Amino acid sequence: MKTTTLINKEDKLVVLTGAGISAESGIKTFRDSDGLWENHSIEDVATPSAFTRDPSLVWDFYAARYNQILEVKPNPGHYALKQLEDHLGDNFLLITQNIDGLHRLAGSKNVLEMHGSIDKCYCNKCEKTISTADVIAHRPASNSKTERYPSILKNKHQWFKCSKCSGLNRPDIIWFGEIPYHLDEIIARLRECTIFLVAGTSGVVYPAAQFLLMAKQHGAKTIGINLDAPMNVDFIEEFHQGKSGDILPSLVKKWIE
Ligand code: OAD
Repeated sequence: MKTTTLINKEDKLVVLTGAGISAESGIKTFRDSDGLWENHSIEDVATPSAFTRDPSLVWDFYAARYNQILEVKPNPGHYALKQLEDHLGDNFLLITQNIDGLHRLAGSKNVLEMHGSIDKCYCNKCEKTISTADVIAHRPASNSKTERYPSILKNKHQWFKCSKCSGLNRPDIIWFGEIPYHLDEIIARLRECTIFLVAGTSGVVYPAAQFLLMAKQHGAKTIGINLDAPMNVDFIEEFHQGKSGDILPSLVKKWIE
């Protein structure tokens, strides 16, 4: 594996990951194939207005994702980043757009889940928090492979109702049009990092797509790992094309030996 970069313990490393890093765990990325879910665009099930319009449809999508994520495990790409964190300690920060929790499951501690997490929910009215497991426990049995439950139950028995008020529990996930979590801390760390590594993201969704340029403008060396060239590939100085589960373990080995 060719790498011109050397990472030493004084370096401040910020890593940004996207759906591609979890692809080898068996989770579909957003923009592979047709980018559709049962003929709905992802944007149609991942916006606050979609939840207002048809909360049952949105919950069908997230219940299916939650159930899928329960079945999967971290892959060598996740574990390589945990190894890098062990080496760099507090000089390491991992920002992920993923909601699957696989970095935490791999043992990473300095992780900012900027788009939220599939395992948490909150009421859209009183903001009481609840685990997704507790919400899903009230879900009627599904009636098809695609996990749609009988339409007669739709919007009548709202199993995702808040137990304290008339609001509805929703996934604690940042939808299109909402402001991502941890932005102040992320921007502060981008300003001071010496190396910025991006893996498994198409570079089309903002503000995450902007982090690469921000870090570069503040003097960081930029490294990228992706199956295809991302939209913002021009700002990557050292680009490794391929699967992160193949590339990251050998790169990390070189960096920390
Ligand atoms: P995308 O689906 O847009 O991009 C995934 C990227 O990973 C693509 O560029 C693939 O080429 C690449 N890829 C696929 N398999 C890979 C592998 N094994 N190793 C390395 N790269 C691989 O996913 P994101 O960029 O994460 O937001 O999408 C960003 C946001 O858009 C998501 O967080 C989500 C979505 O809508 C919200 O839900 C708010």
